[in-house]
Amino acid sequence: MSESGIKTFGVLTSGGDSAGMNAAVRAVVRGAIYHGKKVKGIRRGYRGLIENDIFDMGARSVSGIINKGGTILLTARCEEFKTREGMLKAAAVIEQQKIDALIVIGGDGSYRGAYEFSKLIDIPVAGVPGSIDNDLYGTDFSLGFDTAANVALEAIDRIRDTATSHERLFLIEVMGRHSGFLALWTSIAGGAEEVLLPETPNDIPRLIEKLQRGKKDGKISSIIVVAEGDEAGGAMEIAQQIGKQSGYEVRVSILGHQQRGGAPTVFDRMLGSEMGLEAVEALLRGERDIMVCKQGVDLVTKPLELAWKNKKLMDPRGPRLAEILSI
Ligand code: ADP
Ligand code: F6P
Repeated sequence: MSESGIKTFGVLTSGGDSAGMNAAVRAVVRGAIYHGKKVKGIRRGYRGLIENDIFDMGARSVSGIINKGGTILLTARCEEFKTREGMLKAAAVIEQQKIDALIVIGGDGSYRGAYEFSKLIDIPVAGVPGSIDNDLYGTDFSLGFDTAANVALEAIDRIRDTATSHERLFLIEVMGRHSGFLALWTSIAGGAEEVLLPETPNDIPRLIEKLQRGKKDGKISSIIVVAEGDEAGGAMEIAQQIGKQSGYEVRVSILGHQQRGGAPTVFDRMLGSEMGLEAVEALLRGERDIMVCKQGVDLVTKPLELAWKNKKLMDPRGPRLAEILSI
């Protein structure tokens, strides 16, 4: 595997952190070393690239991190990297550090940055998807989604206990700025009565009627999972719209950033491990400007620009399943 001429990899994490990023960093480092290459860790995403905050990574530098949430490389959002001046500063650092290829673990914004950079300085780049929202086009799963879904689910299960004891309606807001994958999966797994998603229009009168019907039918508590990015606003706004008409006393719980933390699940550790190694090996095979994607049971690479030129659509079977099982 030496067609590429790569001797040294740079690796960074960028955008929102997600569980499993450390597994991916570990796999990049150990995969590269396995193939006789060097790795440099870049702190704070593109910010660290511009500021030359870079260090050598060895196999032992990634010991004891696969079980940790967040990212040991730290992450950031960096407006300066979106400018030509910022990218030129980063380019000088790449040259000085003798980095031959860049692996970016992050979301589609981070991919976009990597792509623009590769066009400017002709460096091969690879993206590994890290996003609890799981909204990256091309891959069935992104790092952190499974962990975040499990964290949210645990909270929903606990809230169900108190909701039932007090015979209340709870609106639980989960993360997802522009996408409802987290809301959909946690609502189905948590047995919620309703889920409100940015992808589908709300019908509040229908929702109220469904809650009233459920109550007549013997339900003593109800849970509505609301995606943070729902078009009508978050759980607070929806609670105000529903008010007493639901027939329940209403409470709201916003789960927030706890969903981004915690030990990664087996799934996210596996995903980070296999994707990190694949990013290294794809670049060593001579592939350029690619993202690593999980497709069914396979791991594939696809052109990076597909990530922001397309929107990941929600399979309508998901909302249908949620609707049928919540009668
Ligand atoms: P995510 O990667 O989670 O989608 P952001 O959209 O915030 O997160 O992007 C992360 C970082 O990627 C930005 O702060 C910026 O440094 C870089 N980036 C995003 N879009 C571009 C772009 N069009 N050109 C250059 N860099 C970009
Ligand atoms: O994209 C991941 C995500 O956790 C979204 O679900 C959420 O809306 C956003 O990041 C929060 O961003 P920040 O941590 O900058 O508040």
